[in-house]
Amino acid sequence: MIGKSQSIWNESMATGIPIIDEDHRLFCTLTAAMHDVADGAPTNPHHASELCDMLLAYLIGHFYREEMAMTAAGQPFYEVCSHKARHDEFLEKAERKIAAVKLGSPSSLDWLANMGERWITGHIPFCDKKVFPHMPLRSFDLRPLHVLAIEALKVRH
Ligand SMILES: [Fe+2]
Ligand SMILES: [Fe+2]
Repeated sequence: MIGKSQSIWNESMATGIPIIDEDHRLFCTLTAAMHDVADGAPTNPHHASELCDMLLAYLIGHFYREEMAMTAAGQPFYEVCSHKARHDEFLEKAERKIAAVKLGSPSSLDWLANMGERWITGHIPFCDKKVFPHMPLRSFDLRPLHVLAIEALKVRH
């Protein structure tokens, strides 16, 4: 079943960097899945919790990929910091809502899905697309998201 956020992805959002576009399509799929579960009645708490785990790994891994690429490509430090600050703010809000979902708040999953939609239509076309299309492909770490997420956790803590 295709969720309503699936339709949010369109090729005009593409950065032209295959690994980044692949990540972004996955985020659209995850957001759609959260909508589907949130719209279901009653919400399956086990499924909601699994989606949250996937979302968290996605966010940590993808944000790390983008931030490393910006540094590798020699983007100005203030640009890297300001992009990272947007990521950190989103991640912090998502983590709070994920904790609420795991405590059994179904409305928090809906909130997360809506927040994901806003990110897809806001950050991707207006922030990511401004930065990544101009960077050389060699700047991007192509390892899978979960591998990057594990490394990011080690670096950050
Ligand atoms: Fe992104
Ligand atoms: Fe980004």
